[in-house]
Amino acid sequence: MRNLFTDPPHLPLIAPSILSADFANLGSDCQAVLDTKSGGADLLHVDVMDGHFVPNLTLGPAHVSALRKTLPDAFLDVHLMVTDPQQYIEPFAHAGANHITFHIEPVLDIHAGSGVSPLSAGYDPKELAAQIRSLSMTAGLALNPGTDASTILDLVDMFDLILVMSVNPGFGGQAFIENVLPKVETIRAYLSPQQRLEMDGGIGPDNAHKVQSSGCDVLVAGSAIFGLPKALWGPTIASLRGSFASDS
Ligand code: DX5
Ligand code: ZN
Repeated sequence: MRNLFTDPPHLPLIAPSILSADFANLGSDCQAVLDTKSGGADLLHVDVMDGHFVPNLTLGPAHVSALRKTLPDAFLDVHLMVTDPQQYIEPFAHAGANHITFHIEPVLDIHAGSGVSPLSAGYDPKELAAQIRSLSMTAGLALNPGTDASTILDLVDMFDLILVMSVNPGFGGQAFIENVLPKVETIRAYLSPQQRLEMDGGIGPDNAHKVQSSGCDVLVAGSAIFGLPKALWGPTIASLRGSFASDS
């Protein structure tokens, strides 16, 4: 399968976060949001939370496996908000993920020797990226709003995508943190045209222009899409892509 992140048909890519979908109708919601006839999204963003790195529990490999069966052609972008990313790389690869992003913060805690959790494995981020790629997926590195760009700049070469969080991870529907935008501009300067820069959290038609102008080319949106009636998903996705009538 073509990898949307290294070989995108167009930019920006719009990635609905299925965390805000109706879990009782997850398959049909995912199918509908990707439906090209009604101006569908490019991929599905799957938020995985372990109740430890963030105070919430969400989706696991069983959900990805079920989505893969129902949507064999969907590009599944797995965002690991977990303390021990290494533990989940193989299970998500076998479930059918196309891409895995993990966070720098739990890895950094381990390397700094502070805040080490008994669940943490302490892997080198470069080794994790290599492991993800060895399983035929692309690799992403995420950083929280409070984490400086300088923390990851010497690592970006190892990754296909950098994910800048624009909310503190844990929940959908939070307000966009605007002061992350200068960090995006700093990181963009270190990336090649083949590398993607994703932003996640609080994105909607009102701020999509700013997000793209700062250098992001993959926009995650959960509540801004799934919080609306189905008939409005296509127009909202179109608006996230590029018609910025309501942007200030
Ligand atoms: C936050 C998640 C996001 C979130 C996006 O921890 O990583 O993907 O669900 O949802 P909205 O767009 O509602 O902020
Ligand atoms: Zn996410």
